Amino acid sequence: MGSRIGIGLLGLGTVGGGVASILFSPQERHPLVSDLEVARVAVRDLNRARTIDLPADRLTTDPHEVVRDPAVDVVVEVIGGIEPARTLILEAIAAGKSVVTANKAVIARHGQEIAEAAASAGVYVLIEAAVGGGIPIIEPLKQSLGGNRIDRVSGIINGTTNYILTRMADEGAAYDDVLAEAQKLGYAEADPAADVDGLDAADKIAILSTLAFGGAVERSDVPTQGISQLQGRDVDYARQLGYGVKLLAVAERMANEVQTSRSLPLSLRVQPTLVPTDHPLFGVNGVNNAILVEGEPIGRVMFYGPGAGAGPTASAVVADILNIAGIRQASDNPGRLDPLLAAGSWRSCSLVDPGEVRQRHYVRFNTTDTPGVIGSIGSCFGDRAVSIQSIVQFNATAAGAEIVVITHEVSQRQMDDALNAISNLAEVSGLTAHLGCL
Ligand code: HSE
Repeated sequence: MGSRIGIGLLGLGTVGGGVASILFSPQERHPLVSDLEVARVAVRDLNRARTIDLPADRLTTDPHEVVRDPAVDVVVEVIGGIEPARTLILEAIAAGKSVVTANKAVIARHGQEIAEAAASAGVYVLIEAAVGGGIPIIEPLKQSLGGNRIDRVSGIINGTTNYILTRMADEGAAYDDVLAEAQKLGYAEADPAADVDGLDAADKIAILSTLAFGGAVERSDVPTQGISQLQGRDVDYARQLGYGVKLLAVAERMANEVQTSRSLPLSLRVQPTLVPTDHPLFGVNGVNNAILVEGEPIGRVMFYGPGAGAGPTASAVVADILNIAGIRQASDNPGRLDPLLAAGSWRSCSLVDPGEVRQRHYVRFNTTDTPGVIGSIGSCFGDRAVSIQSIVQFNATAAGAEIVVITHEVSQRQMDDALNAISNLAEVSGLTAHLGCL
């Protein structure tokens, strides 16, 4: 047995409870788990009934007490939200303590400040649980894939929305019912708008982008479209055309050549996207997440697994604690930080004008069912060099028709120009859906 390492838990909710239950049942796990001692825990309510039996003197309602407690060597922040999480993390760093956090919101917005504070204090801030739940993706990007030039990171990185979309597609289940179930299962954020409006996925892709490309972008500039406006009929039409609809997050480099200028141009986005049935992301269903990393020389590698919930997220948190514990035990005076595990930024990255971003699009229009309407829409696209891959009329009745168009790859600017022209056609009463398409 090595020396004991005191763990201070900030939060004993879904994730904190999952972490505690691993730490209190070390049997048959890695021997290092037995050396971790839950020294202090901050909770919101001391009197709440708990499945984990903790001595009363280890519980407090003041998270600062946990951070300051000399018996705490590593602070585990699983309360979520921006404040007081950010302040507590910085306080722990200032006290010379390494931090493990699952908090994507705080890392996506204040990651730079936190990383700089950690580097100057000589401590680690590890975030494996912040993206992809139980899927190891942070450490692989930092360490295992470090020799690659990454071109693109894309994937399904919100379990709640993927659970909702899967149940809607498979059972035609009602959006509100499925969301309530996702909350009950511990997948959803405290405010589920963060899930369904795509904000959680935007936090996560901003974090993955920083690791993949070596520099942060401004989180608030990431174009983000969630699933709260998505209609079941588009999921159905997409299925009839050979696609599934997924909430996709993408970060890609916009320069094909090796970058020589100071700032690397990137495109980041979160958007409901049609995924063809033969694409590796098509079969990612339920609460599962998957992240596809494309780089040179590796080609494509996909990470897949449970993306939310107590157990999977706790698995990632404990992995980070073990990394820190292993380093502490290897040396009483760790000295210089392991540069791969500490993973600072090494260059500046910037977002390109969204008008320049090229992709395929799915659009649906409400129109009159009159001769020539498909031709008029086709001309608006053709005049702006937007090539159509398919155009289909659904639901033609006396009241009107729905026309669905899937384009080839075009820039957002070309697409917006064409859509403007189409919205001026007398036969078109509205653009009723606009999704991405792989
Ligand atoms: N609400 C998040 C999700 C939890 O559904 O993916 C994991 O970050």
